[in-house]
Amino acid sequence: MTVDATQIREGAPANAPEDLVAWVTEIAELTKPASVYWCDGSEEERDRLNQEMVDAGMFIKLNEEKRPNSFLARSAPSDVARVESRTYICSEKEEDAGPTNNWADPAEMKATIMPLFDGSMRGRTMYVIPFSMGPLGSPISQLGVEVSDSPYVVVNMRIMTRIGTEALDLINDGAFWVPAVHSVGYPLIDDEGNERPDITWPCNDEKYITHFPETREIWSYGSGYGGNALLGKKCYALRIASVLGRDEGWMAEHMLVLKITMEDTGKEYYLSAAFPSACGKTNLAMLQPTISGMKVETIGDDIAWMRPGEDGRLYAINPEAGFFGVAPGTSENTNPTALHALDRDVIFTNVALTDDGDVWWEGLTEEPPAHLIDWHGNDWTPESGTAAAHPNSRFTVRADQAATIADNWEDPAGVPIDLILFGGRRASNVPLISEAYSWEHGVFVGATVSSEQTAAAEGAVGSLRRDPFAMLPFCGYNMADYWGHWFEMGEKLGDKAPRIFQVNWFRKDEDGNWLWPGFGDNSRPIEWALRRLAGEVEAKDAISGRIPLEGDLNTDGLEFSSEDYAKLFALDPEAWGKEADMTEEYFAQFGDKLPEELTEQLEQLRERIANA
Ligand code: GTP
Ligand code: SPV
Ligand code: MN
Repeated sequence: MTVDATQIREGAPANAPEDLVAWVTEIAELTKPASVYWCDGSEEERDRLNQEMVDAGMFIKLNEEKRPNSFLARSAPSDVARVESRTYICSEKEEDAGPTNNWADPAEMKATIMPLFDGSMRGRTMYVIPFSMGPLGSPISQLGVEVSDSPYVVVNMRIMTRIGTEALDLINDGAFWVPAVHSVGYPLIDDEGNERPDITWPCNDEKYITHFPETREIWSYGSGYGGNALLGKKCYALRIASVLGRDEGWMAEHMLVLKITMEDTGKEYYLSAAFPSACGKTNLAMLQPTISGMKVETIGDDIAWMRPGEDGRLYAINPEAGFFGVAPGTSENTNPTALHALDRDVIFTNVALTDDGDVWWEGLTEEPPAHLIDWHGNDWTPESGTAAAHPNSRFTVRADQAATIADNWEDPAGVPIDLILFGGRRASNVPLISEAYSWEHGVFVGATVSSEQTAAAEGAVGSLRRDPFAMLPFCGYNMADYWGHWFEMGEKLGDKAPRIFQVNWFRKDEDGNWLWPGFGDNSRPIEWALRRLAGEVEAKDAISGRIPLEGDLNTDGLEFSSEDYAKLFALDPEAWGKEADMTEEYFAQFGDKLPEELTEQLEQLRERIANA
């Protein structure tokens, strides 16, 4: 039994506009669900879906005393991260996707995926999820509607975005909205009408995460995990939004946003920072400084939308409402704020379950518990020799559960950005911090970010790859045009542009030990950057940018020697010569789309290397 057009019309809320009902009907006629349900975003709806998932075995309810209203989901072992190899930008012209994206012709991609979506929701409920990326009604916010056959997606979207009636009201008032279709690709009834039982994590071996930048559509098939399925996040807020930003003069970035108040002067600063996936954005977003005099509050941990304000400065909003954060490594020592944000109302995915119905992951405690159920659902002991939690296991939690959330984090006008950091995981070559010589140099620094790959996507963990602006998997158009857009924005902002710094928390010594303690101590290089902004400290011109003079980096209370400083800020001309050669090679693939400014910056880098 599939739902028909009359039933859809009758089931639609009073504030659903005609064009939306028509689109929902069209998708239902294609995917053939048993029913259509319009999400209102209420708590009652959330509780009902959570209970349904518990009853179906998709959710494990955690110990109510230890972790109220919290649940654990375990995914299929084949569906644990974003699948970049199956992610496509389907622009009319191949050159508009560029050499760093998978491209497919939009008509051909539709011809490929339509047969997959045909009947893909048989026997299931199709949920209609109206959502706002950004505070409801903010001029910087954007609307979307995700249809999905996954209740897990609904309850996650409810945390990560603003879903339901109010978002639908805005769409009904005529706001632009992006249609986003999601199916796990596991129908419960086949073409012949044969039924099969549901499983705890339905998905399909064949996956397509597809974006149509010209028609501003998203179609995602086969995965229920994270960025593949919560379509407001990477698919909309980065890939489609980056295209909107290019066309409309704003920026969609893979950045955290922080508010920093200097206690002596009371001066407030806002910082945004782009680091690749699983490279420390959530951690920095909730930084607890180990030095005094600095108060740090959270605006966002993963995505920033930024546009010039009336005063000519660059204003940022966090388009999300929650955190989808990496669990492993989160502890009382590394990120107490995140840890306590997880005290209640959390969805955990792929972490381990303790015998008393709570959660555990690698790094949570020094000593692992004697017995756990691992992310596969199997018995686990410290002798098992495997990870109890998947390295890309995650928590989903509302942003305002972080004690550090700034009281203006939902300001519809956004916050004015003073400085931008670019960073990655680099065991060698890249110093703890250096300041870009100019906006142009800063864009060069962003464009040449490379990082050791993490478990946030499929692929070889640890291998070094270029990840310009931490946007490699998220830029919805040609990366070279994106760099051009950054230069244009710089011109528009002029002397009101944020200052740009490069950071690297991940440098190691010859024996593979971290050279920098990281986490709360990252407040130290940031303090130096703020003192640069205030004009309080000099800096030393170096190959990668301007670096701190030895005495200027606040290392009070740290065991930190001159030798440590030398290692953390070592800039070996020979190694940098190789970096420059690799950059030249990397840039070559963009042909004549490469902005001239980047070629000039590469020449200047080579001059600095030659003079070093
Ligand atoms: P996405 O959500 O995937 O975009 O990632 P993210 O950038 O928010 O990553 P997150 O902050 O969750 O960082 C994940 C990993 O980085 C964890 O394993 C952390 O322990 C590690 N990490 C974060 N900050 C530091 C640091 O300052 N030093 C070191 N050594 N590791 C860090
Ligand atoms: C990332 O991979 O950068 C994430 C997690 O933030 S996901 O939403 O799955 O893309
Ligand atoms: Mn991310």
